[in-house]
Amino acid sequence: MSEPTSAIESVLVENRVFPPSEDTVKNARIAGMQAYEALCAEAEKDFEGFWARLARENLQWSRPFTQTLDESNAPFYKWFADGELNASANCLDRHIGTPVENKTAIIFEADDGAVTQVTYKELLARVGQFANALKARGVQKGDRVLIYMPMTIEGVVAMQACARIGATHSVVFGGFSAKALHERTIDAGAVAIITANYQLRGGKELPLKSIVDEALAMGGCDSVKTVLVYERTASAWNRVEGRDVTFTEALAGQSTECAPVPVGAEHPLFILYTSGSTGKPKGVQHSTGGYTLWARQTMLWTFDLQPSDVFWCTADIGWITGHTYVAYGPLAAGATQVVFEGVPTFPHAGRFWEMIERHKVSIFYTAPTAIRSLIKAADSDEKVHPKNWNLTSLRVLGSVGEPINPEAWMWYYRNVGGERCPIVDTFWQTENGGHVITPLPGATPLVPGSCTLPLPGIKAAIVDETGKDLPNGAGGMLVIKRPWPSMIRTIWGDPERFKKSYFPEEMGGTIYLAGDGAVRSEDRGYFRITGRIDDVLNVSGHRMGTMEIESALVAKTDLVAEAAVVGRPDDLTGEAIVAFVVLKRPVPTGEEAKQLANELRNWVAKEIGPIAKPKDIRFGENLPKTRSGKIMRRLLRSLAKGEAITQDTSTLENPTILDQLAKTN
Ligand code: WTA
Repeated sequence: MSEPTSAIESVLVENRVFPPSEDTVKNARIAGMQAYEALCAEAEKDFEGFWARLARENLQWSRPFTQTLDESNAPFYKWFADGELNASANCLDRHIGTPVENKTAIIFEADDGAVTQVTYKELLARVGQFANALKARGVQKGDRVLIYMPMTIEGVVAMQACARIGATHSVVFGGFSAKALHERTIDAGAVAIITANYQLRGGKELPLKSIVDEALAMGGCDSVKTVLVYERTASAWNRVEGRDVTFTEALAGQSTECAPVPVGAEHPLFILYTSGSTGKPKGVQHSTGGYTLWARQTMLWTFDLQPSDVFWCTADIGWITGHTYVAYGPLAAGATQVVFEGVPTFPHAGRFWEMIERHKVSIFYTAPTAIRSLIKAADSDEKVHPKNWNLTSLRVLGSVGEPINPEAWMWYYRNVGGERCPIVDTFWQTENGGHVITPLPGATPLVPGSCTLPLPGIKAAIVDETGKDLPNGAGGMLVIKRPWPSMIRTIWGDPERFKKSYFPEEMGGTIYLAGDGAVRSEDRGYFRITGRIDDVLNVSGHRMGTMEIESALVAKTDLVAEAAVVGRPDDLTGEAIVAFVVLKRPVPTGEEAKQLANELRNWVAKEIGPIAKPKDIRFGENLPKTRSGKIMRRLLRSLAKGEAITQDTSTLENPTILDQLAKTN
C-alpha cells in the first residue's frame, strides 16, 4: 500500500484514501480499477451471459444448464434451474487428480492449542464415510438435518456430508438455547440432529448434547429419528437408547467412498435461521448452484486467493460467514484454511496474532467486534499487542458483520496489516449468500469505514421509500435491483413472508430490500452502511430481533407484564440491547431492581441464548405510549442513550414515566 493521500484523521469526514500498491495490483486476479470496471461492463452488456460464464468457469456440472435466469415467477428467481451438480463434489472431488489433492485443506487448532491437519484427499474420505453413515441411518435426499456442533473439522464434515447426499442442513449456533433449537427443529422438520457431547471454549466444557435432549423433550419433534453424537471430550453424557449413536459407532464399517448425489441447481443446500423484525426467526433457504458459485468466486475476487495462501476466517459455522467462508468457499477454491475451536481471548488476548504467526496465515477475515475488543486488551496489556508476533505472512485483511469504525480500521491496518495489507470491508447478509459490496484488494482505493463498491453483476443502489434512486450524499435504503445467483430463494415454509420482508410492493415487488440504511460518498460513489432500518439489532455482529427479545421477556408470565427493547450505540459491541420492562408488581428499586434485572437476563439467555441478554434493563410502571396505545420507540432510544428528551412529547399519554425509565439498574 502507498501512503494515504491525506493524513487528516477526522471521524466525521473520512477523507483518507489508501490506493493499492503497484505490486499488489500487478499480481492480483482483478488487477486495477479498469479490470473491475471491465467486469462490471460485461455484466451490464449481457447480464445473463456474464453469470452463465462464471457458473461454467467456477462449477463442475453433472448436467449442464441451458437456461441461466428464470424470472417468470419473480421474486422467486431461479438460476441455472435445469442444471445438475453436487456442492460437495464441487468442494472436494473436483480437486482429486489435481495438485490440490494432497494439499492441506484444514489446519485445525483446538481450544487447548493442539493442531491437526487434513488434506483434500483425506477430507473427501471423511466426508464420504460420514455420508454413508447418514444414509445407513435412513437420511435421504431432500431430508433436513440439524447440526449443533462446535467449531471442528467434524462440523465441516457433517455439513459437507449432508450436501453430498442431497440432504438440506440447518446449522444452529452452539450458543443458542434449547428453546431456540426446539423451534428450529420443528420448523425445519429435521429427521436427524448432529451434535457433540460438549464443546470446548476458553478452557471450559460447555454442554451441547444435554441441550439437544432438553429441546427434544419439549415435544413435537417426532420427525427426529437419530441423534449423532461426536464425543469431543471424555466426559460422560446421557444416552437415549435407540435414538442416539456416537460418531465412532455410526462410522464403523462404513466405506469412505460415497458417490455424490447430483441435485438440481435450485435444490436447497441449506436453511439458516436469522432474526427478522417479528418474533419468529426466518429460515433463509439457499440454493445449491448459485450459492456454491458465489462462495467460490468471491474467494477468488474479494480475497484474491492464490494457491499458496493460508486463509483464516474466524467465524463460527453457526453463522452465514462460517458457511460461505469456512464450510464451502475455501474448499471450492482449493485453499488451505485454518479452523479454530476456541475464543480470541484464551489463554490470552494475543491468541489470534499468535495463531497467524504459527500457521503463517496470509488472508485473515474477522469481525469489527473482535478487533475492538483486542484493541482494548492490547491497550491495557502490552504483552498481547500484535507487535509481539511476526505477522509478515499477512497480505490481505477482511472485516465482516457490522460497520467498522475508522479508528478500529486504522488500528487493524497499522498494527495487524503493517500498513501493507489492504482491508476488504465486506458488506453482505445471511440472505445474500456471499459478499455483495466490498473493495477488491488489487483494485479499489480504500476509505476507512466504507465497504466501497458492489461486486460486478450486483446492482446495488440507494433509494427512497418508493424505490426512486437517490443522489450521492443522500442517505436512503440499500436495495439490489437485479437478482443474483446466491440470493435467498425463500423463507423455509413461508413464501409470503419472503415476499413481504424483502420485495416491498411499493418498490414494484421485484427489488431486494436489504433492511440497511446507506449513503454513497459524493466524490467516489462509495457505499457506507449506516445500520439497520428495521427492528433488528446488530450486537457484536450477531443479528437480534428486538421483537424476539421482547417475546422472550413477556414469556416470563409470573413477572413481566410488558417489555420494549431497543438498541443503543456501544463502543465494544457496536450496539447494546436495552430492555424497558413493566413488571406485574410495583417498580423495584435498589438491590431488588438489580436482582430482578439479573433474573430477567438469565431468563433471556435460557429462552434465546446468552448473546441476547440485555445489557441494560430499566423498570417503569408503564411504557411511553401515544393516546392510541402505540409505544414511542424513538423516546426509548433517546432514554437508552441517556439523552435528554427534546422531542415533542405532547402526544404522550403518560409523560411522568420518562423519568422513571431514565434510571439504570
Ligand atoms: C450488517 C453477516 C456494515 C448489516 C454476513 C447487515 C455490515 C447485517 C457489514 C447482516 C459491513 C454485515 N458493514 N454492516 N461490512 N456486514 N453488516 O445476516 O446490518 O449475520 O444487514 O450476515 O450485518 O448480518 P448477517
